[in-house]
Amino acid sequence: MRLQGKTALITGAARGIGLEFARAYIAEGATVALADINAEAVAAAAASLGPQAVAIQMDVTRQDSIEAGFAQAIEKMGKLDILVNNAALFSAAPIVEITRSDYDRLFAVNVAGTLFCLQAAARHMIDRGEGGKIINMASQAGRRGESLVGVYCATKAAVISLTQSAGLNLIPHRINVNAIAPGVVEGEHWDGVDAFFAKYENRPLGEKKRIVGQSVPFGRMGTAQDLTGMAIFLATDEAEYICAQTFGVDGGNWMA
Ligand SMILES: NC(=O)c1ccc[n+]([C@@H]2O[C@H](COP(=O)([O-])OP(=O)(O)OC[C@H]3O[C@@H](n4cnc5c(N)ncnc54)[C@H](O)[C@@H]3O)[C@@H](O)[C@H]2O)c1
Repeated sequence: MRLQGKTALITGAARGIGLEFARAYIAEGATVALADINAEAVAAAAASLGPQAVAIQMDVTRQDSIEAGFAQAIEKMGKLDILVNNAALFSAAPIVEITRSDYDRLFAVNVAGTLFCLQAAARHMIDRGEGGKIINMASQAGRRGESLVGVYCATKAAVISLTQSAGLNLIPHRINVNAIAPGVVEGEHWDGVDAFFAKYENRPLGEKKRIVGQSVPFGRMGTAQDLTGMAIFLATDEAEYICAQTFGVDGGNWMA
């Protein structure tokens, strides 16, 4: 029960990694607001986790939605100790086929969404004067370029950079801002990634996923559960002297 009495808001928590983090935080004693643009899915996800879960419909690309969502979460839970900036979109295309609308869409969710949710949480945490923990979901994609993944890689590089700046700016308030950089993680997100590669590399569906999994030094793709240890640790008081860092949790994939 390392998060007993703590409250958290996790964006993009209707499925995948965000939902698994919500389950793990609740198992450690926290109360969690699951925030997602998909109202129906997030309501079902929260209902499946029991009374320590709260569903919030929030679009991280809209300032009014962020402000209303944080106000609602804080009213329901009494305070906010932990934010996980997890909502994100993926796309892939050769550089000459990237469209401005796709670029705007990804940067609006992955970068502006991360910054302005982080800002909303930090304002509350500063007012309260008891510090807090903010965890941004980056990616191995933010540490390198990838031939077909220019826009997504750039958004995740921006998340790593924002983690560094916000980490430095907020640590005097005892708000720890850090990030997790997963490698390749099983789930609906990667089914979508696989479909992009099937299109651009002319492969049967599922082939890219199989090859990518085999090439991870650990020997398989990651699961959302592989990431929960780091997500819990960074949310505890044990992480109080850590700030502005991005931690790879990827079975050795990026190093290789
Ligand atoms: N799955 C992987 O292989 C992998 C690898 C590296 C990093 N990541 C990162 O981990 C995080 C979670 O990934 P996942 O695999 O669970 O993704 P996912 O696509 O399964 O889930 C993303 C969630 O975000 C929500 N969302 C999308 N736009 C939103 C918006 N505007 N406002 C609020 N919510 C919105 C979606 O409805 C969805 O529930 C993301 O930041 C992703 O970039 C994932």
